[in-house]
Amino acid sequence: MSTKHSSALHETQLFGYWFITWGRRLFILVVAIATLRWLDHIKHRWYVFDPELLHELAQSAVSTYPNNPRGMITHIVTNLTETYPATQILLNTDKEWVFNNAGGAMGAMYIIHASITEYLIIFGTPLGTEGHSGLHTADDYFYILVGEEWALRPGSLEMERYTPGTVNLMQRGVVKQYKMHEGCFALEYARGWIPLMLPFGFLDTFTSTLDFPTLYNTVRITAREMLGNLFIAKI
Ligand SMILES: *[C@@H]1O[C@H](CO)[C@@H](O)[C@H](O)[C@H]1NC(C)=O
Repeated sequence: MSTKHSSALHETQLFGYWFITWGRRLFILVVAIATLRWLDHIKHRWYVFDPELLHELAQSAVSTYPNNPRGMITHIVTNLTETYPATQILLNTDKEWVFNNAGGAMGAMYIIHASITEYLIIFGTPLGTEGHSGLHTADDYFYILVGEEWALRPGSLEMERYTPGTVNLMQRGVVKQYKMHEGCFALEYARGWIPLMLPFGFLDTFTSTLDFPTLYNTVRITAREMLGNLFIAKI
């Protein structure tokens, strides 16, 4: 009689522990989801760059330095440095260029700005390249400076064609096949959760290129810029 009683007590206690443990986990999960949704809702407060201004700037670079990517880049970076004095903008030096392999495509990249919610880069190659755009957690504006970018969305049987001065806007979640048929350079602006985009740009090192010096430099420059911006309260 007494053993029966104590085992029933034991079961009630076990149930109590189980209830507390899972109740706590559920609570943490709900708080985490609510926090992430809230952050996602307010992330625009940390945006500094204006897609309209960037578009005008890309167009003025195209008309001032037609077919001259070096001239355009200097034009763009000089303007950004003056327009956004409180934000970290990188000067264009040969040392800051790195290769980028992602989604089957390859090109050279120069990081103008990188923070938690925005990045601004020059990406392109005079050789042409083609691949998968990647599925991203940010809106991506691809302002063509030199050459053409072609793109395809499944379901559409015709290609989208972007020429210098136009922009290929890829909203968060949109995926496309893209092709820089011949030489093409673009100013790329992404706004959203940038750290979640980085694995797409890094993974090819491990599965294909094994170009660890490039990975090292990409991570070094990105981390330096992100932390540098965090340090001046640019999230
Ligand atoms: C930067 O470019 C924009 C767009 O072309 C232009 O409106 C603005 O005046 C330029 N600013 C500077 C400081 O050159």
